Amino acid sequence: MKAGFIQFNPEFGKIDTNMEKASALIRNAEADLLVLPELFNTGYLLTSREEAGSLAEEIPNGKTTAALGDIARERNVHIAAGLIERSGDKIFNSAVLVSPSGYRATYRKIHLFSEEKIWFDPGDAPFEVHDIGSCRVGIMICFDWFFPESMRILALKGADVVCHCANLVLPFCQEAMITRCLENQVFAVTANRTGAENRGGKFLRYTGRSQIAGPGGRILYRAGADDEEAGTAEFDHLSARNKSINRFNDLLKDRRSEFYADLVSP
Ligand code: ACM
Repeated sequence: MKAGFIQFNPEFGKIDTNMEKASALIRNAEADLLVLPELFNTGYLLTSREEAGSLAEEIPNGKTTAALGDIARERNVHIAAGLIERSGDKIFNSAVLVSPSGYRATYRKIHLFSEEKIWFDPGDAPFEVHDIGSCRVGIMICFDWFFPESMRILALKGADVVCHCANLVLPFCQEAMITRCLENQVFAVTANRTGAENRGGKFLRYTGRSQIAGPGGRILYRAGADDEEAGTAEFDHLSARNKSINRFNDLLKDRRSEFYADLVSP
């Protein structure tokens, strides 16, 4: 299968412009699965929960999910993309999964980073895996990488490919994802944004270097820090289902969960 990311520099608050820019890059790519950054249509550096609410959309009934569905149908591709979701009086940092036949699923970011705890409600549903025909995908958003449980649960639930929508500001993630892929024997597509934002007296620079990493800790493709591009790689997703490490060890069967109870105690 072929999977990839869209890396670009969204303009804060310009939902239509950002959708058009992302669509042009999607039209440049030939892939079964494409991952877009976290909050790809709005930008990231919010100043308040009210501002987050003013840029939020319903999923699946909002215009961004509809536009993503249209382009997924046109290009015969599955797309995972980050956006602000409004659900009743809740606001989530979410990612939507669309297929060529329309809306498939929503993931609401579970591990909120820094001031996101002011802007958003924490995700209220478990990590899930979706069979999209070409492979089985799991979704996580940016800072979820800091919690190895995120990718472990997706691997335990059978993900071949983890769609990782990101707006990375710390320098560690791209290298850490090599280990996440190694320790779970899965592929991961990290779609990061580029550029910087200066709002409300705050400044953030995003690190680009979106990447596709694979089992064995291989980087299949990595973008530059500032390039706006669709980056793709072809790989055998079925290799993620072989969890054997050597003649004696199997990644999932060798887990000693009877000694892991402290992981889930409060
Ligand atoms: C992040 O979670 N956007 C750093």
